[in-house]
Amino acid sequence: MNWELIYSHAVQWVKEAGENIRLSFDKTLNIQTKSNRNDLVTNIDKETEQFFIDKIRAVYPEHKIMGEEGLGDQLENLDGIVWLIDPIDGTMNFVHQQRNFAISLGVYENGVGKIGLVYDVVHDELYHAIKGHGAFLNDKKIPALHNREVKDSIIALNATWVMENRSIDHHLLIPLARDARGTRSYGSAALELVYIAAGRMDAYISLRLSPWDVAGGAVIVEELGGIVTNLRGEKLDYLSKDSLLVARPGLHQTILHDYLKDGKW
Ligand code: IPD
Ligand code: CA
Ligand code: CA
Repeated sequence: MNWELIYSHAVQWVKEAGENIRLSFDKTLNIQTKSNRNDLVTNIDKETEQFFIDKIRAVYPEHKIMGEEGLGDQLENLDGIVWLIDPIDGTMNFVHQQRNFAISLGVYENGVGKIGLVYDVVHDELYHAIKGHGAFLNDKKIPALHNREVKDSIIALNATWVMENRSIDHHLLIPLARDARGTRSYGSAALELVYIAAGRMDAYISLRLSPWDVAGGAVIVEELGGIVTNLRGEKLDYLSKDSLLVARPGLHQTILHDYLKDGKW
């Protein structure tokens, strides 16, 4: 498999899609809701997903595509080469703030992440990795991640998860939030993953994410030695929704054992 070629196509298409999204800022958005009134989707989410699908199908007709907006394939397994695409991760930010969102793209072979791209369109920051060849922010190589103690860490989590009383063991997150140096919540899982890769934050916890939220950023974080699992410490399968714990090596183990291990997640 010529991963370098697939990678160069992916980079080219992500940049082009980003340019189209930037141009959309001057136009009126068509905004709709999905599962609830806060679950937003716009014409730009759909157009961007369709843009990738057209590009991929033209060059790689044998590859499969899983996209958030459902314009790709309905997959029952991850056999072969699969592109996992979130055309805009952080749509609420896109609509309300016109920043703090990203295009997320992962290319997987038989369920193993090979290429990860997360493009912060507004800042023109492309985080990218091919498995085994290092991870980069634009042209700059990102250094490997090392352990950090909870008391020195910034941990990304959403306040609504900590308060949420329908999720059984949410209270276990309270001591973690208290012990950490600080907490943050950016509203884009893809960006939160690559912020860990770039050393801007140290861990990220979510109770429920979809494969396309995580697939691109996970390749980048793992390339740097970061650990990506669900809150039970298991590997993700990228076919179903799951919880997520991403952290520096060492810190991941500490959070899992000292804070989360008694929880039903
Ligand atoms: C959402 C963002 C958000 C996360 C949600 C996701 P979307 O993705 O990643 O940070 O908390 O669970 O659904 O809908 O903006 O692509
Ligand atoms: Ca998303
Ligand atoms: Ca999305």
